[in-house]
Amino acid sequence: MRKMTDIDEIGRKLLNTHKYSRDEIEIIIPKLREIDRLRNEKDAVIMAHYYQIPPIQLIADRVGDSLALALAGHDSYLNGRLIISSTVYFMAEMIKILNPKSKVVIPDTKASCSIAEGMNVSTVMRIRESYPDSSIVAYINTTAEVKSVVDVVCTSANADTIIKNMDGNPIILIPDYFFAKNIVKRITDDRKGRRYLAYKMIRDGNIVLEDLDSCREETIPLDKTDMPLLPEGTCIVHKRFTPVDIYEYKRLGVVDTIIAHPEVSPAVAEEVDMVGGTNKMISHLRDHPEFKRILFITECDMAAPLREAFPEREFFTPCRLCDYMRKNNLDNLANSLINEEYEVTVDPDIAYGARRSLERMLELTGF
Ligand code: 13P
Ligand code: SF4
Repeated sequence: MRKMTDIDEIGRKLLNTHKYSRDEIEIIIPKLREIDRLRNEKDAVIMAHYYQIPPIQLIADRVGDSLALALAGHDSYLNGRLIISSTVYFMAEMIKILNPKSKVVIPDTKASCSIAEGMNVSTVMRIRESYPDSSIVAYINTTAEVKSVVDVVCTSANADTIIKNMDGNPIILIPDYFFAKNIVKRITDDRKGRRYLAYKMIRDGNIVLEDLDSCREETIPLDKTDMPLLPEGTCIVHKRFTPVDIYEYKRLGVVDTIIAHPEVSPAVAEEVDMVGGTNKMISHLRDHPEFKRILFITECDMAAPLREAFPEREFFTPCRLCDYMRKNNLDNLANSLINEEYEVTVDPDIAYGARRSLERMLELTGF
């Protein structure tokens, strides 16, 4: 039996912790009551990513980073229930693949991701043909189709563990070049004398890979008709941060520590104290109660779980929002509960292959 949701308490949190105005809260509260009523009527489960707006995170049954959303696949609580995935599309696909008995819907199918749009199956196949002894490690921000043809998936929370534990030479990371550079830089032990390559971009009709030690490029021709939607697989939100965003905070000495997501550029990663995924940020701050004023370099709505976890600390950010994540709002969330749209379906063969790569990730991470 679901616990009663205390909507008034959510209102208080929006006002006190998340600094919403009373006028905004007056509009939001009836919408949250309606969402809660519909959810109970349908016995549905709302799952939300940390980059959703605070009211969605507060009304959701499960909130987390990509890994936590994947792990919910092992959660008997879901048990075939209707799932509203208030996330971007690749996350909703992943939730469907790991919860095949559930109907999974997403409030807006245009909630895509620039990293996911920067890679396709043809590109992976050409890389595979050129490096038959490699292990291809795909970042979780990829389509189900891409996941179905790689060796394993990783997230910002487990990439170093996954990479260290894979066989194969070279290890090839796709599709986010910045993420790959930031993660491999941190692996100073356990390299097993092998090469690490990162997918960089499509340039002049060629797939460009970079050897992460020598920084030398290696290219593979790709047919014009096989190009991914975008010519590179970086995050349009995280790549907009620059070292200049950080210098002023450092110069004024107004923060105790600076943390960043591994999708930022290596130049930005150089300027911060800790690079880690969304859950790692929370655990890092839990381990360091002495940090009271924190600058975080990631999507702006990450402020919500940080302020929830540490209401007594102060958070600063050069706020950048993800337009894809922002496709979801309280109105289309209610609509997705009423009309059970838009259903996320995955072709069974693709789901089978993608599930294998996802389960490999969970196994290597110890779940
Ligand atoms: P996490 O794996 O940290 O949840 O990140 C997903 C994402 O889209 C970051 O931009
Ligand atoms: Fe994709 Fe970047 Fe948005 Fe995350 S923040 S969903 S990586 S575009």
